[in-house]
Amino acid sequence: MNVTQTDQQINTRLAHDHLLGLEGYSSEEIELVLSTARRFREVLYRPIRKVPTLRGITVVNLFFEASTRTRISFELAEKRLSADTVNFSTSGSSVLKGETLKDTVQNIEAMKIDMVVVRHRSPGAAHFLTQCVSSTIINAGDGAHEHPTQALLDLLTISDRFGYVEGLNVTIIGDIMHSRVARSNIHGLTTLGANITLCGPPSLLPVEVESLTDRDNVHVTSNLDEALEGCDVAMALRIQLERQGSNRLPSLREYHEQFGIKMSNMNQHKDLVIMHPGPVNRGVELASEVVDHERAVILDQVTNGVAVRMAILFLLSGHADVDQT
Ligand code: NCD
Repeated sequence: MNVTQTDQQINTRLAHDHLLGLEGYSSEEIELVLSTARRFREVLYRPIRKVPTLRGITVVNLFFEASTRTRISFELAEKRLSADTVNFSTSGSSVLKGETLKDTVQNIEAMKIDMVVVRHRSPGAAHFLTQCVSSTIINAGDGAHEHPTQALLDLLTISDRFGYVEGLNVTIIGDIMHSRVARSNIHGLTTLGANITLCGPPSLLPVEVESLTDRDNVHVTSNLDEALEGCDVAMALRIQLERQGSNRLPSLREYHEQFGIKMSNMNQHKDLVIMHPGPVNRGVELASEVVDHERAVILDQVTNGVAVRMAILFLLSGHADVDQT
C-alpha cells in the first residue's frame, strides 16, 4: 500500500474533537482508530519510515509526569507522520518558577500550534486544557483517570491476536484503584463486547467497582485462580506506589505470591496471553520468565502504540478529510 492509497481509503471521521478518554467513544470510533492504526503500522516496516501526512501540523508534547514509552511513542508517531514537534517536560521549565498549567499552555499556544499531547498527575487535566486553548488535546494519562491511547493499543494487540474482541474473557490484575490504564481498558473492552474480570487485593479495588458489578460483563474477585479460569488475556498492572497515599500492601513479595502470574499459571492455562502496559517490575506482577514467555505480547503492545498514536494524531488533525495527493 502506498501513501496515496492510505490517505484515500481513510475517509471517515471521529465524532470527537479531542481524545480525553475512551468513556463515550463508540465502538465505531474505536474500530476506526484500530483500522487506521493497522494501515499506519505498515509504515513502521518500510526502509524509510516516514509519510508526509501531517506536514505543516505542529504538535507540542507536554509531559508533567515521568514517562518513557508513552513520550517516545508519541514523538516517534509524530515524526513518522512528518509533523513538527516540540517537547516540554517540567524540569527546566517555568512551571518550576510557579507558572500555572493554564498560563503555560496559553503561552505555548500563542506561538501557533495545532495539537497538544498532555500527561499530568491531576485527573481532568486534559479536559481542563480544552477549556483554556483551542488546540486539539490528546490525553497521554491524567492521574488515575484515563490513559486512552494505552487502552487503544491494548485493544489493537488483542484484536490482532484473536481476530476479534467481542466475547473474549480479559482479566485485569493488580492495582485497579490507582490505574488509569485499567479505567480506559474497562471502557474500551466493554464497548467492544469483551467480558472483564478485575482482580486484586481488596485494598486496591476501588469502591466504585461495586457499581460495575451490576454490569453483566464485569466481574470482580480477589482470587487469582478464579480470575484466570477460562481467561483468554491476562493484563497485569504495576503497583502504582507513587499514587498510594498509605501503604495498602503487606509486601511486594506477598503480593507476588498471591497475585503475580507465575510459570505454574502459564503451564496450567496453555492458551493464556499475557499483557502489561509497562514499566514491568519483574518478580512482582509477573515472574521474570513470564515477561519473556512466547505468550507474552508486551513488545507487540509497544510497537502497536506507535501505530495507534499515528492513527489518533491523523484522525484528530483535521487532515483525515483532506486529499493528500
Ligand atoms: C502506565 C502509565 O503511565 O499509566 N504506563 C504507560 O503509560 N505505559 C502504567 C504505569 O505507569 O504503571
